[in-house]
Amino acid sequence: MTINCPRGTADIFGEDIKIRDFIIETAKKQFQLFNYQEIITPAFEYTEVFNRSIGESTDIVKKEMYTFFDKKGRSITLRPEGTAAIVRAVIEHKLYNLNQLLKLFYIENMFRYERPQKGRMREFWQIGIEAIGSDNPLVDAEVIWLLNLIYDKLGFKNLELLINTVGCSKCRSNYIKVFKNYLKDKKNSLCQDCQERYDKNPLRIFDCKIQQCQQILKKSPVIFDYVCDECRSHFLKVKNYLSSAGINFIVKNELVRGFDYYTRTIFEIVSKDLESAQNALGGGGRYDNLIEQFGGPKTPAIGFAIGLDRTAVLLKQLNIPYESKIKAVKVYIITMDENFNEYGIKILKILRDLEINCDISFVIKSISSQIKLAEKNNYTHVIIIGESEFKSNIITIKNLKTFEQKSFNLISEKDKIKEFLK
Ligand code: HAM
Repeated sequence: MTINCPRGTADIFGEDIKIRDFIIETAKKQFQLFNYQEIITPAFEYTEVFNRSIGESTDIVKKEMYTFFDKKGRSITLRPEGTAAIVRAVIEHKLYNLNQLLKLFYIENMFRYERPQKGRMREFWQIGIEAIGSDNPLVDAEVIWLLNLIYDKLGFKNLELLINTVGCSKCRSNYIKVFKNYLKDKKNSLCQDCQERYDKNPLRIFDCKIQQCQQILKKSPVIFDYVCDECRSHFLKVKNYLSSAGINFIVKNELVRGFDYYTRTIFEIVSKDLESAQNALGGGGRYDNLIEQFGGPKTPAIGFAIGLDRTAVLLKQLNIPYESKIKAVKVYIITMDENFNEYGIKILKILRDLEINCDISFVIKSISSQIKLAEKNNYTHVIIIGESEFKSNIITIKNLKTFEQKSFNLISEKDKIKEFLK
C-alpha cells in the first residue's frame, strides 16, 4: 500500500515552486523598500500563546488548532497564525520601542484543522508583516499600501481592498449591545452556528455565508455609527491618507475578521476570481491591546498576512506571467559522445565558478532531441560539445530564443562568456 501526504497538506514542486519563488521575491523586494526585517519563530508554541490572543470563542481556537501534549505533559500547538507568536517573541526579547516603529516580516507555514478545498489547506504558508509601536493612522495607511503594492507588483488586476473599523474595546462593546438587541427577536431564524455566535462572539455572525443569516444582517445597525470619537477620527484619517497615496479601497461596514485581538482598522484584499468561498488573499488589522494583554508594555501595533498558497492558485488560474520576471539564465551542455564528458565537467566547473546556472545532459541522444528537451525545461542557452570543440578548448554558446550563437575560448575568454550570458 502506498502512503500519501496527510489530507490538507501538499508536496510542492516543479512550476509551483517557481510561482512561490516569484511571490516571495516580489514581497521581499517591497519589504526592503519599506524597511522591514525578517523574523523566524518556532513552528510550535505553548498553547496559551494562541488561546490568550486569538480568543477562546473563535473558530481557530475552538476547532482548528493542532494541539497535543509533549512528553513532559506540556500543551503545545502548531502555530495557526503568526501574529500571536511574534508578539510573544517581541515581549520575550524586549524588541518593542515606542520611539521607533519595529517593522518585522515573516514567511512561515501555519496549521489549521479546516475542511480542505482549493486554496484552503491544513498546512499553508503566510507572508506577513507586523508594525509594532505606533497607533498613528499613518502607519495603518502605510501597512495597507504595502499589502496593495505587493499584489500590484505581482501583476494582479481587479482585486478589491476592503477596509473597516471595529472600534476599540470600549466602543465595540456598546455596538455589540445594540447589535444583539437588533438580533434578539430574530435569533431563532439564524443558523445553528450563528445562534451560538450570538452568545459567544456575535460579530462573527457577519462572516456567515448562509443566505438566511445574510438576509437578517441587511438591516443591521453598522459599527461605524457607534464607534467613539477617537476611533471615528482615526478611521477618517486612515481613509484620507490612503486616498493621498492614490490607493483605491472600499469601506465594507460588515467586514469582521476571525480574531479577538483586533481593534480599530481591519482590512482584506479579496478576489472575485477565486473559485471557492475563500475569496480573501490576505488580511490584517490593528491590535493595540495585545502586547499589553501578553504582559508587555502598552504598545499599539498593526499587521497583515498574505496567503501564499491561495495567491499562487489565483496567479496560476489567471495566467499571470511570473517566469519572465525572474529572468534566469540557464545553460544546458549537450555532449555528443561519452568521451567528451570530462570536457563537459570542465565547462560546468568554469560556468559555475562564474555563477551561471548550468547542467549537463546525462543521456546521450540525438542533438535535436536534446535541444527540444532543453527548450521544454526552460533552458535559455545550449552548448554542444563535439570533436572539434573538445580538441580546441572552444565552446559555442547558442541562445535558444534569439538563435544568436558565439564561440569562445574556454580558458582565456571567461569574461566574454559571462558578458554574453548576462
Ligand atoms: P488570516 O485572515 O487568518 O489572518 O490569514 C491571512 C491569509 O492567510 C488569508 O487571507 C488566507 O489567504 C490565508 N489563509 C488562512 N487560512 C488558510 C488556509 N487554511 N489555507 C490557505 N490559506 C489560508 C491572520 O492570520 C492574521 N495573523 C493576519 C494579521 C497579521 N493580522 C495582523 N497581523
